[in-house]
Amino acid sequence: MSRRAGRHFLQIPGPTNVPDRILRAIDFPTMDHRGPEFAVLGKEVLEGLKRVFKTKGPVVIYPASGTGAWEAALVNALSPGDKVLMYETGHFATLWQKMAQRLGLAPEFIAGDWRAGADPDAIEKRLRADKLGEIRAVCVVHNETSTGVTSRVAEVRKAIDAANHPALYLVDTISSLGSIDYRHDEWGVDVTIGGSQKGLMLPPGLSFNAVSQKALAAARKARLPRSFWDWQDMIASNKDGYFPYTPATNLLYGLREALKMLEEEGLDNVFARHQRHAEATRRAVRGWGLEIVAKNPAEYSASLTAALMPEGHNADRLRKIILEKFDLSLGTGLTKLAGRVFRIGHLGDFNDLALLGTLAGVEMGLELAGVPVQREGLRFAMQCLVEAHSAAHDKRAAA
Ligand SMILES: Cc1ncc(COP(=O)(O)O)c(C=O)c1O
Repeated sequence: MSRRAGRHFLQIPGPTNVPDRILRAIDFPTMDHRGPEFAVLGKEVLEGLKRVFKTKGPVVIYPASGTGAWEAALVNALSPGDKVLMYETGHFATLWQKMAQRLGLAPEFIAGDWRAGADPDAIEKRLRADKLGEIRAVCVVHNETSTGVTSRVAEVRKAIDAANHPALYLVDTISSLGSIDYRHDEWGVDVTIGGSQKGLMLPPGLSFNAVSQKALAAARKARLPRSFWDWQDMIASNKDGYFPYTPATNLLYGLREALKMLEEEGLDNVFARHQRHAEATRRAVRGWGLEIVAKNPAEYSASLTAALMPEGHNADRLRKIILEKFDLSLGTGLTKLAGRVFRIGHLGDFNDLALLGTLAGVEMGLELAGVPVQREGLRFAMQCLVEAHSAAHDKRAAA
């Protein structure tokens, strides 16, 4: 393949574009992970992550992709044959449910149509019916990356409380952490699962478990076999800034820089930026006359938007044309949605003009692919950004 000039547009919903500052931070000689300098780094990233998860409890860091942190959450908290209540929000919720089955758990999967988040009422009803308290955990994916639909995590917590049920609450924030507001402690989550390659702007390779005191207590009795994933060994070493086995040192340099960048911008500003880009993207999709997968506006994702293709048009053909002509990667439709949707990632290190470049690529690609759309997407998105900036300007002037 010949060289392509300019920067590739990596607009899949993760891995996301890694900013130069983070690339430079990673490009530094690996240090002795048992030496004194490492302990400073270890403590700094472990503390910084707590602020991102919004927890005072421990956060465990694994040298693994997000799938590893899913497994860690299950094997630390649960025992063979335990019932877990899961919700079919899409491809990733389905993969997590399959993992639970393989690990010897007994997942009960509430069926969904892949266009809505976990329904707090359905969860409450199921938990109320569980008179013997057999369900040991409720597992929800905060941001279903295959559909661009979020689940209302705080409302699911209320549903668990309303049913007065003792189940642990496990939440996957792999594609929402650092992009969409999330509060581990306030929302009463027991294990939050995160990953490095999305809102945290890092390459793939790190994943996380934020762990509540209740989950730690459950782990002391839980009997699924575990070794590499064991929280106890991690937390014991982490107290002094170290890890029980060789950590991904260079990714931790990157993590330190990522945490600095999120704090310099301010988490609330980061979330507002993601919302602005998500709203502009939805307006663009509507401007093309296409439908968004997410049905309920309260569940729209701020980190990605999935758009449905018109009947008779294949999303992967569109993606191929866009990649070939404009060097722009979009997310593919996964399993049930294969060929039917394309996903625009607007998370991580991203700004207004990068979004407009992305949307321009999609709009031109739709035309080149012969998809019958209106050419209003980019214009609507620009209008949306102008409105957002002038509203913010007016608000500052009034203050
Ligand atoms: C919501 C969600 N959960 C889990 C995963 C699996 O993570 P990984 O591919 O890093 O193992 C992903 C990956 O994209 C995801 O988006």
